[in-house]
Amino acid sequence: MTPAALVTGAAGAIGQATAAALGAAGMRLALADTDETALDAAVAKLPPHLRERTTAHRLDVTDDASCAEVVAAAVSAHGTLSLLVNGAGVMVRDTALQTSVATFQRVLDVNLTGAYRMSRAAHAALAGDGGAIVSISSTHAFLAAKGSFAYGVSKAGLSHLTRLLALEWAEDGIRVNAVAPTVVPSAMTEDVLADPGYVNRKMAAIPLGAPIAPEHVAAAVAYLASPGAASTTGQILVLDGGESLA
Ligand SMILES: NC(=O)c1ccc[n+]([C@@H]2O[C@H](COP(=O)([O-])OP(=O)(O)OC[C@H]3O[C@@H](n4cnc5c(N)ncnc54)[C@H](O)[C@@H]3O)[C@@H](O)[C@H]2O)c1
Repeated sequence: MTPAALVTGAAGAIGQATAAALGAAGMRLALADTDETALDAAVAKLPPHLRERTTAHRLDVTDDASCAEVVAAAVSAHGTLSLLVNGAGVMVRDTALQTSVATFQRVLDVNLTGAYRMSRAAHAALAGDGGAIVSISSTHAFLAAKGSFAYGVSKAGLSHLTRLLALEWAEDGIRVNAVAPTVVPSAMTEDVLADPGYVNRKMAAIPLGAPIAPEHVAAAVAYLASPGAASTTGQILVLDGGESLA
């Protein structure tokens, strides 16, 4: 049976590139996002041969029932599920004191608890098919950056969620890994990448001197999902152009 991947945050830049890479690797695709209009546009951009083996699902990762429904719909549509990509995410650029507790909880609910909800919901299907989970963490998980407090905490949690699920679910045949990019051009970073001061500072901090292309994140996800990575679990693959070396 052709393997199938469920990608959350699939309307976003990284989600779209990931869907294209997994599709090119021969997978069927269940693409899920809260933004149905953007999701439809993303599906329409896929080449016809990939579009015909793709389904689109409205998903809110903060809602238990929505997560369960989308996993069930994906399994029903594709007959199997071998990969979950946790890409849904939100960014709030505030310091600890600027962030309200309600905002802190909302960011964690999407970025961290959302990945946990989806991983739980997909566990049975993935275990049945020797599956894998790849989450999109961030360099914010391990580099303390001022001004994106809730986001950094959520991604640090997501990286450790990855290690703990890898340990617990190895016996179920499920590999759990993450990728951690530094800045990637997307709706999430449009504001900062339009600020020449930010761009100058950021590029000076990245030895390779360039933002991370969504396609490079997608290639890392595709590798971690592939049979070639069968010995790899609990790992965070950093894509930061060398930013964390110095
Ligand atoms: N852009 C970057 O610099 C960067 C760097 C490191 C990690 N990431 C992570 O990569 C992932 C994808 O981000 P992106 O850069 O493509 O941004 P994006 O804003 O283009 O995509 C994020 C997507 O998540 C969806 N989403 C938000 N809340 C949701 C919810 N409750 N349920 C389902 N979907 C929801 C949005 O509708 C959007 O389509 C995120 O987890 C982000 O934190 C991004």
